[in-house]
Amino acid sequence: MTFTILVLFVNVFVFANQVEAKKELLSGLESSDLREILEDIFNRLDEKDRELVEYGRVNALQQQRIQELENQLNSINKDCDLKPATKQVLKPPMKQLKPDGVERKSRQNELEHPVAFYATLTNHTFHIGTGQPIIFDRVVTNVGQAYNHVLGAFIAPVSGVYVFSVTLFAMPGHTTAYNVMKNDVFISRMYLKAPSGNYETAAQTFILQLDKGDDVNVQNVSPDEAIHGYNYSTFSGFLLQQTFGNPAAVIG
Ligand SMILES: *[C@@H]1O[C@H](CO)[C@@H](O)[C@H](O)[C@H]1NC(C)=O
Ligand SMILES: *[C@@H]1O[C@H](CO)[C@@H](O)[C@H](O)[C@H]1NC(C)=O
Repeated sequence: MTFTILVLFVNVFVFANQVEAKKELLSGLESSDLREILEDIFNRLDEKDRELVEYGRVNALQQQRIQELENQLNSINKDCDLKPATKQVLKPPMKQLKPDGVERKSRQNELEHPVAFYATLTNHTFHIGTGQPIIFDRVVTNVGQAYNHVLGAFIAPVSGVYVFSVTLFAMPGHTTAYNVMKNDVFISRMYLKAPSGNYETAAQTFILQLDKGDDVNVQNVSPDEAIHGYNYSTFSGFLLQQTFGNPAAVIG
């Protein structure tokens, strides 16, 4: 009996992978207990075979992934070696982004766009309609090209805090009002009353927190009005501080 089982086991190992051989072997057995034991052994062997195949597959995928990562790492190392200048160039701006650094307090932040404009009104302008902007046509200063002398509007090139100044000069015999407007929304009003034969001037400075693309201009209020030119009426402004954070907190 012992011998028979031993022979059977040898056979089992030799033909373990051969389904037909296994079936044959099992059907030839007289003892149902032995058949059951062998069937169980065969099943377990099959299962181990499947596991091995699966491990092999996972292993191959991992090898492939390792290779990809090695390639990426090599190319990153290569880039760093080839362009040491890039690393150096990146350093100064990063330093300036420190929230509490001394650099932060400086107005001469390299990341800031210089923006400053100053324009005057060359000629007297008559028959200005309600809501029509004053076109300060003569551009004296326009650093950053943010003032548009055709529209008479300043358009913020970057988000930030801006300082503006408007001086208006009324024609004799005219009582006029003007609105400072941001995105066509009222900000403040200027009023001039020049009796006949007299002049009147009004000036205003205002500070606005603007988002990139916001526009600011000065619009006439009363219908069919006039304003004095000859460079007495002016519009100017500059960027006080660029803002880089959340643009949601807009004051005006
Ligand atoms: C101002 O008036 C002069 C003389 O009439 C004219 O030549 C010039 O084009 C005017 N300028 C503007 C900006 O309208
Ligand atoms: C206003 O400025 C323009 C451009 O410089 C000049 O031609 C004109 O004479 C000036 N007008 C006055 C009254 O200064």
